[in-house]
Amino acid sequence: MILALETSCDDTCAAVVDGPRVLSSIVSSQASLHERFGGVVPEVASRQHLELVNGVVTAALADAGVSLADADAIAVTSGPGLIGALLVGLSTAKGLAAASRLPLVPVDHLHGHVAANFLEPEPLAPPFLCLVASGGHTLLAGVRERSGFEPLGATLDDAAGEAFDKGARLLGLGYPGGPAIQAAAEAGDPEAFDFPVAMSRDPGLDFSFSGLKTALVYRVRELGEEATREATPDLAASYQRAIVDQLIGKLRRAASSGEWPAVALGGGVAANAELRRRTAELCAELGLRLKLVAIELCTDNAAMIGSAAGVLESISYPHYLSYDAFATDRNSLRPS
Ligand SMILES: Nc1ncnc2c1ncn2[C@@H]1O[C@H](COP(=O)(O)OP(=O)(O)OP(=O)(O)O)[C@@H](O)[C@H]1O
Ligand SMILES: [Mg+2]
Repeated sequence: MILALETSCDDTCAAVVDGPRVLSSIVSSQASLHERFGGVVPEVASRQHLELVNGVVTAALADAGVSLADADAIAVTSGPGLIGALLVGLSTAKGLAAASRLPLVPVDHLHGHVAANFLEPEPLAPPFLCLVASGGHTLLAGVRERSGFEPLGATLDDAAGEAFDKGARLLGLGYPGGPAIQAAAEAGDPEAFDFPVAMSRDPGLDFSFSGLKTALVYRVRELGEEATREATPDLAASYQRAIVDQLIGKLRRAASSGEWPAVALGGGVAANAELRRRTAELCAELGLRLKLVAIELCTDNAAMIGSAAGVLESISYPHYLSYDAFATDRNSLRPS
């Protein structure tokens, strides 16, 4: 049984995981705290993690009906993410582990998003193709073994979640932008505006979202304030369509290789209803198994970190005491 912590961005998370079983998963979101700034303020996030982390760990243990003495290891996100935020989780995990002489398992956050698919119900076993799309990353992961993944393609600029967040800010829809754009898009026509789908003629598996954001800036400027307000549902639906079209286009290309019997999604954007619907359609068309994790396992959570930790080597006491967090990808996500 593993106690896992995740504090890489603005959610303070702890979970108790036993293999593929999630015994508890607590997510204390700071979203309302950052909302008035239109995005996450790193130093505010770190300080808030400090306030929340002990209570969140206690709640995760209580919810699972276990105590720290029952844990076999402590898992924690060591990066990538906001360095101050990561350090709160890592220091807490080290302290908890050292006090009980437990081993520590540092986990890569993106491996966590992939490993959410190993959890019940209906755990998915490799090999599979996983589209990881979140606030800071967008990549196609070839998953051949549980302990890691191979990046097959990645974004050259903005992440898909960042495109949702920046688009929502431009349309005055608030933060986080993904759910806000999705909600506004429900009443809109995805064909009303013609936004560019980048990289569609590119033969590789990389993504690009910065041009789309710029296209929205120009469209909003052309329309002016009042017309933008009136057209917001159409703008949101068309913008969402352009993001999902690109994601599905690259997913289709990778999935068509015949190498992958199953397709999975990970990261906060995997919560998007349109992306989930289109991925299901694609899998049905290509005859591939589809794995869609529950929404609460798409956005940041510690259960996915516990899931990844279960298939990784742990570090025994006291060797992890000098282990450091890392802000950016330790190994480049660009395909070699
Ligand atoms: N329903 C949704 N539709 C589209 N995007 C969504 C939806 N729900 C959440 N998102 C987006 O997911 C992102 C947050 O995902 P996640 O919590 O995995 O990101 P992160 O941890 O900040 O980034 P990373 O995982 O890259 O470090 C935000 O950009 C948010 O707008
Ligand atoms: Mg994340």
